[in-house]
Amino acid sequence: MQETVKKFECLRAEARLGGGLERIEAQHARGKLTARECIEVLLDEGSFEELDMFVEHRCNDFGMGKKRIAGDGVVTGYGEINRRKVFVFAQDFTVHGGTLSESNTQKICKVLDMAMRTGVPIIGLNDSGGARIQEGVASLGGYGEIFQRNVMASGVIPQLSAILGPCAGGSVYSPALTDFIMMVEENSYMFVTGPDVVRTVTREEETFESLGGARVHATKSGVAHFAFPNGMVLLTQLRRLLSFLPANNREQPPVVMVGDPPERQEDSLDYLIPDDPLRPYDMMELIDKVVDSHDFMEVHGGFAKNILCGFGRMDGGTVGIVANQPMVLAGCLDIDASVKAARFVRFCDCFNIPLVTLVDVPGFMPGRTQETGGIIRHGAKLLYAYAECTVPKVTVITRKGYGGAYDVMASKHLRGDLNFAWPNAEIAVMGSKGAVEIIFRSEIKKANDPEKMLREKTREYADRFANPFSAAQKGFIDDIIVPSSTRWKIIRGLRMLKNKQMTNPWKKHGNIPL
Ligand code: HXC
Repeated sequence: MQETVKKFECLRAEARLGGGLERIEAQHARGKLTARECIEVLLDEGSFEELDMFVEHRCNDFGMGKKRIAGDGVVTGYGEINRRKVFVFAQDFTVHGGTLSESNTQKICKVLDMAMRTGVPIIGLNDSGGARIQEGVASLGGYGEIFQRNVMASGVIPQLSAILGPCAGGSVYSPALTDFIMMVEENSYMFVTGPDVVRTVTREEETFESLGGARVHATKSGVAHFAFPNGMVLLTQLRRLLSFLPANNREQPPVVMVGDPPERQEDSLDYLIPDDPLRPYDMMELIDKVVDSHDFMEVHGGFAKNILCGFGRMDGGTVGIVANQPMVLAGCLDIDASVKAARFVRFCDCFNIPLVTLVDVPGFMPGRTQETGGIIRHGAKLLYAYAECTVPKVTVITRKGYGGAYDVMASKHLRGDLNFAWPNAEIAVMGSKGAVEIIFRSEIKKANDPEKMLREKTREYADRFANPFSAAQKGFIDDIIVPSSTRWKIIRGLRMLKNKQMTNPWKKHGNIPL
């Protein structure tokens, strides 16, 4: 018995070395951690239980029979983050470049299946050369098996992806099907076709970084939700992200009391809005001042900065915050902002996270680029997402709620549960001057002093509509609140909505305008 145990300990030690010391050093030289080192940083100390450590590939083609390494390029198992269960798979680049084989597909699928069965989040750490070329279609089939599971797990358990090295070809689609993608700057990349293929097909000269680096995906394509300077920071932030989320769609998000008084007033908010309605202010200041302990984890922070999305806590419970940002494009809704916020709203709805929406929106972004780019189709995504979601929705209009964008931003008409407005809010079809120029066009043209008439009519229209009272008179706004009391008002609302029950009509699934 002792001998057998010893033998297995030796095999274990060997498996832990993956592709060997030389390749581990090469990994370090690239500024990357190994799969096992990543897991160590990610999970609570000593909590990792590895599965399938002795699995080997079964390929004998192209000399692969002589290249079997225990574990076969992916480390899988379960452990804890802040004493909450997670499943994890980490591709080991030191073993055949972390490529996907038939055998290691089965390992990944096993933890995906177990995560689903037990209602526990799954974290994928990606660092791989893609399909293992020597295995041909077996590897492609493997990707298909993983994709199918990602889709079935979507909305049931949180799925988080870290990209810590290469992620190319069809393999990008597994992370793309998960809820959040985190990338490492200058050391990770994602693309469907690499620079060589691009050069051949389109004659464009591109690099790994320019085609699929973290910066590109976190700011331009929106593929990545987060970009971090290195793997250590990424893994620490992944732990933080998970702290906001429930383990599955049947659980409520965790409550973390940090001792921030719920009734805390923020007098400075009474002066946040500039007197000049055309001057911007930083919506982040409002978010910072209403969430518990100023702790806000922004999602997609580098992408579509005209809308802010992220997680915070209020009264200890997680909230998803969506807010127009007047500092960027005056807070207009454009294609990217609509898609970004729609996905975020749907994530929150999947996982019982109440939505707090802070509105200062002059409308949808005008222009040919937006119209021909499909702002109708993409703007409809956000509309759809807000309209279908059933979690508690608390909305605060801080300044402008104009046009269709007023409707979209969790208005009463889209089943907003509590809709508040600050006293200076303007809820109208459009800005007063624009409105008057349309409805009094012919009168203004004929007037002796058109400028004077425009001024007078604008004032008249503003007095009538550029305030929250006409919306409040109709019950579209539940209350007009003092800005400094915003945190307490939202928290009281969320407490009232704690046991909200709402279901949509039965359907196989809706048909969101994709
Ligand atoms: C088998 C592979 C491999 C692959 C890398 N390796 N990619 N083995 N199949 N796809 C092996 C290398 O032979 C090497 O083995 C080890 O991994 C490390 O690779 P290096 O090239 O030495 O590392 P590096 O210089 O850092 O370059 C990494 C790389 C490059 C950029 C990822 O290896 C590369 O371009 N690989 C091919 C990528 C690719 O085209 N993949 C297929 C994508 S299509 P040794 O034994 O020397 O250490 C795809 C389809 C999926 O994935 C479809 C799903 C639907």
